[in-house]
Parts: sequence; structure tokens; C-alpha cells
Amino acid sequence: MGYTTTKEYAELEWPVAILLAIVWAAYAAVFFGTIVKRRTRHIYVANWFYGAFIVVTGMLHIVNHISLPVSLFKSYSAYAGATDAMIQWWYGHNAVGFFLTTGFLGMMYYFVPKQAERPVYSYRLSIVHFWALITLYIWAGPHHLHYTALPDWAQSLGMVMSIILLVPSWGGMINGMMTLSGAWHKLRTDSVLRFLVVSLAFYGMSTFEGPMMAIKTVNSLSHYTDWTIGHVHAGALGWVAMITIGSVYHMIPKLYARPHMYSVSLINTHFWLATVGTVLYITSMWVNGITQGLMWRAVNDDGTLTYSFIETMQASHLGYIVRAIGGAIFTSGMLLMAYNVVRTIRASDPQAAESATRIAVAGAH
Ligand code: HEM
Ligand code: HEM
Repeated sequence: MGYTTTKEYAELEWPVAILLAIVWAAYAAVFFGTIVKRRTRHIYVANWFYGAFIVVTGMLHIVNHISLPVSLFKSYSAYAGATDAMIQWWYGHNAVGFFLTTGFLGMMYYFVPKQAERPVYSYRLSIVHFWALITLYIWAGPHHLHYTALPDWAQSLGMVMSIILLVPSWGGMINGMMTLSGAWHKLRTDSVLRFLVVSLAFYGMSTFEGPMMAIKTVNSLSHYTDWTIGHVHAGALGWVAMITIGSVYHMIPKLYARPHMYSVSLINTHFWLATVGTVLYITSMWVNGITQGLMWRAVNDDGTLTYSFIETMQASHLGYIVRAIGGAIFTSGMLLMAYNVVRTIRASDPQAAESATRIAVAGAH
């Protein structure tokens, strides 16, 4: 409708931003209310991650949306110039860190041990992982503003903190992977576990790639190119989508009192479609990104640009076709999942499903 603050990932005008804050507060009340009413003293680490996701996402949303309304659908940011940009990317990067990572790590800490039927590899490491991750993420935002009007020291700080961020990220990834110690053979037969483990591999890959891209010299090549888009989807498809898919496959039979999903071989087909689709997406964007970066910076002896912008787009054409094929393959896997879920639910006995939910609730106390 054109009502937008024009801020990336934070374009909601003030009345909508306030409504969203209210919805989020209600979500927080339900989550923390449940924690307060718990009957066990201990709060399992997955809930710490989930709690951080809710608190920090709310905090980012409120701080970044503080603005001066001039009419019902128009407002101006409370911050000016480089400060506004910094607040925006403090929000933007931590949206990645807390919205697209921390909640999903909570899922990882619950579903990987459940599916592998093994305790989490190191509970102590999970606590260190939690505090290190939330302490470090919050500083990395300036890597989105390299070579801008942001003071140079702030850019360098963002770069250094991003490189350090590799450590807790990989700590979490290794903790999830090592939970399979003694259970690796299950990967041969258990496609749900494959989703969870491969998602961790993509998490490890994107959190290695991110710190590399945060290095100023690397960023001078990667920024504005499809490399960033490849990185985004290594996280979004490989990590966020695949851990969610594995968790849903784990949960659906339990919620509907079925021994397993309607078709286990369809889960396996879905696994391969998701993996191949993601790999095609990422690799085509890497090739495009590096090609674009190199072509944009190429200069002739007389200082003029070697390539026009349209030539770089022509060179990217094949990559876009490969990405479209990868996306279509990934989407076809999601359709198989929808079919599999519907058939599983249809095969369930409503009364058995009802009592299964009650047992789950009773067991939670
Ligand atoms: C240690 C962890 C990570 C670091 C240090 C990191 C670093 C970076 C860097 C340097 C960029 C490019 C900024 C630019 O040139 O504009 C970027 C972009 C991005 N990353 Fe990451 N990344 C990490 C993990 C992740 C993960 C796990 C995800 C997704 C789940 C993700 C999602 C994104 C998104 C959405 C963008 C694009 C933002 C935009 O619209 O410009 N990142 N990241
Ligand atoms: C079949 C699956 C998907 C396909 C084909 C796809 C495709 C795309 C395309 C074409 C863009 C625009 C890139 C550009 O500006 O050049 C994009 C951007 C983006 N997508 Fe996806 N996407 C998919 C799934 C997802 C998922 C599941 C998530 C999040 C969990 C996601 C998060 C994003 C984000 C954050 C951006 C903005 C990146 C930026 O501007 O830096 N995507 N996607």
C-alpha cells in the first residue's frame, strides 16, 4: 500500500509497529507465564534460547521503530544520519541472530537429542554457548555498513566481533553434531535425523562464511552481489528451513498418536530434494556473486570501467536459471511434505490424538 518507513526489514509504520509489539508482548506473556508456572525447578537450555529469542527480538523491534509520527501513516525515525543506519543494522543483524538463529537453536537442543535418543553431548557447553552467543551477537551489526559514513572504528569493531562470533556459533553446531556420538549409524535409516544433522552442517557453513564476509577486504568484493543472497539462503534454507522441517516430522506423529509419518520414503525423497535445491541455490549465487564483484571492480588502463552493469547481469543469467531450478526443487519437496502430513493426520484416530496431547501435557509437568 506504500505505507512504509523505508527501513530494510523494519518498514512498518508506527500504528502497525505498535500492534506488532502488542502481539509480541502477548507471545512473551504466554511463554514466560508457562515457565513461571513450571513444576520442575530446572529450565532446560532450549527454553533459555527460546526466551532470549523472544526478549531480544522484542527489544530490537521497539528500539528500531522509535519515531516521531506526523500523521496516521507517516513518521520520521527518532535517529538521524549514521546513528540511524547503525541502529538499523544493530536491529538487522540481531534479527538474523535472534529471530533466525536463537529460536532455532532452541529447537535444535530439544529435537536433536529427542530424535537421536541420546542426551545432549555437553550440557555445560550448551550453557557456555548460550551466554557467549547472546553476548557477542549484539556487537556484529556494523559489518553491514563497511565503507559507509559510519566511523571507521565502529566498522572495525563490527568486523572483529563477527570473527569472534564464529566460536560460539561453532560451539553450538559441534554440541548438536556430537550429540550423535554412538548414534551415527541411525543416519543410515532415519531421514528425520538427516534433516536435523544436515541443517547443523549448513548452520556451521553459513556461520563460517558470515565472519569471512565481515572482513572488510572480502566485503568490498561480496557486498551488493549475489554472494550475500547465497549466504542468506545457506542460513534460511539450509539451516532455518531444514531444522524446522526435521522438527515438524518429529512432532506430527506424536501429536496425532501415530507410530510414524504416513510415508517414511517420502521423507527421504524430501530430504534429497531439500538438500539438492539448497546446494543449487547457494552454489549458483556464489558463482554469480564472485563474477559480479570481480567484473564491477575491473578497470582499464585509462581508469575507465571494463564492464557495463548490464554486462554483469548478462554474465549472471545462467546462475539465476540454476537458482530458479534449485528453488523449484526445494518447493517440490515442501509439497511432498504437505501431502505426507495431511495423510498422517487423516490416518489418525481423533480420540487417540486427543489423549496423546493430554499425555504430552501431563508429561510436561
Ligand atoms: C557468525 C555468524 C554470521 C556472521 C558473522 C554473518 C555475517 C554477515 C555479513 C558480513 C553479511 C553481509 C553484509 C553486507 O555486505 O551487506 C551478512 C548478510 C546476511 N546474513 Fe549473515 N552472518 C552470520 C550468520 C548468518 C545466519 C545463520 C543467517 C541466517 C539464518 C544470516 C543471514 C543473513 C542475511 C539475511 C543477510 C543479508 C542482510 C541484508 O539484507 O543485507 N547470517 N551476514
Ligand atoms: C524455495 C525457497 C526460496 C527461494 C527460491 C528464495 C528466493 C529469493 C530471492 C530470489 C530473493 C531476492 C534476492 C535478490 O534481491 O537478488 C530472496 C531474498 C531473501 N530471502 Fe529467499 N527464497 C527462498 C526461501 C527463503 C526462506 C525460507 C527464507 C527465510 C527463512 C528466506 C529469506 C530471504 C531473505 C532474508 C532475503 C533478503 C536477502 C537480502 O536482500 O539480502 N528465503 N529469496
